[in-house]
Amino acid sequence: MIKNVPPMGWNTWNTFAENINEELVLSSAEVLVSSGLKEAGYEYVVVDDCWALRGRDKEGRLIPDPAKFPHGMKYVADHLHAMGLKFGMYSCCGNLTCAQYPASFNREFIDAETFAGWGVDFLKYDYCFKPVSADGKTLYRRMGLALSNCGRDILFSGCSWGSDNTHEWIGTTGANMWRSTGDIVDAWDSVKELIQKQYEILPYGGVGCFNDMDMLIVGMHGKGHVGLKGCTDEEYRLHFAAWCLLASPLMIGCDIRTMDSATKEILTNRMLIGIQQDARGNRPFLFKLWGNEELPVIVRYLGNGDIALGFFNLTDGPAHMWVTTEDLGVPETAGKKLSGTEAYSGRKAESQNGVVMATLAAHACEVYRFKVVGA
Ligand code: GLA
Repeated sequence: MIKNVPPMGWNTWNTFAENINEELVLSSAEVLVSSGLKEAGYEYVVVDDCWALRGRDKEGRLIPDPAKFPHGMKYVADHLHAMGLKFGMYSCCGNLTCAQYPASFNREFIDAETFAGWGVDFLKYDYCFKPVSADGKTLYRRMGLALSNCGRDILFSGCSWGSDNTHEWIGTTGANMWRSTGDIVDAWDSVKELIQKQYEILPYGGVGCFNDMDMLIVGMHGKGHVGLKGCTDEEYRLHFAAWCLLASPLMIGCDIRTMDSATKEILTNRMLIGIQQDARGNRPFLFKLWGNEELPVIVRYLGNGDIALGFFNLTDGPAHMWVTTEDLGVPETAGKKLSGTEAYSGRKAESQNGVVMATLAAHACEVYRFKVVGA
């Protein structure tokens, strides 16, 4: 069965776009296993757009491009499954995918059956070339239903970028995750914008249908399809921590075959992944320090009673950030204090006189996992 925690994996799009093939997918999957990423929780290998030929076969079925996938998709699925991984693919609710390959409009049932026959475990479903006269939620419900009737457990990953008030209807479609925003690019401004766009939609994420902030750019360093200016490692650390604390799915987007040690350290941070995967599935909440949109303090209550707390400095200068234990649910009169560890440095920390604080460089963050202990 599909686990009801935000999915983790690797996706071809951010770095490779149309330059995909069997060798790339299987060699990246091998690295997922050998590097320890699989052990850290990354299990879905997702082939995004551009895998198909431009037409369908006589029966109306999608056809993998034989130049890219010479042995077909079942072969890829079988190899991934043999490695203990899961296989994701991509289609779209419109006439064409975003890169203008055949898509599933009015072919939902036959496509779902085709994916099931290939051993697919995850379907990312896009929103391009949707007929204006067609209702997005109806098309998504149709694919959701087609997937639940295809004879295989396939995780439905909606990708309608928050359009047409997605948050109001996505929970009716059977989707396990929903893209809440437009596409990420490998630049600081994009990370900052995507975090700030979450403020209003936090009530719509969580168990059943996780709010997907888009694939990770950690470690891209300006290379690949969405590789723009790139970010510093400090900025990638903040990006990853925010996605974890906000319980977004974690889909790696860099070329893991050539990742450096800083990238691997970020992507395998156990404390942050533990917060993201917390099975109780409570929604995060946040405070804007002094009402400042660039100084969010993000909190998530965890299943064992711990409190995850992140200070995020989205400003371009240093910032002193704080929160009271009262705001975290622990008044001083409770006779309790908070005691824990910071996720990246491993530094021990405690609340002092009912306050937790941090001094942060520009674009830096600190995330703590606190226990509520006797004062
Ligand atoms: C859209 C999606 C991206 C990617 C591309 C593929 O832009 O939002 O994540 O799947 O399409 O064409």
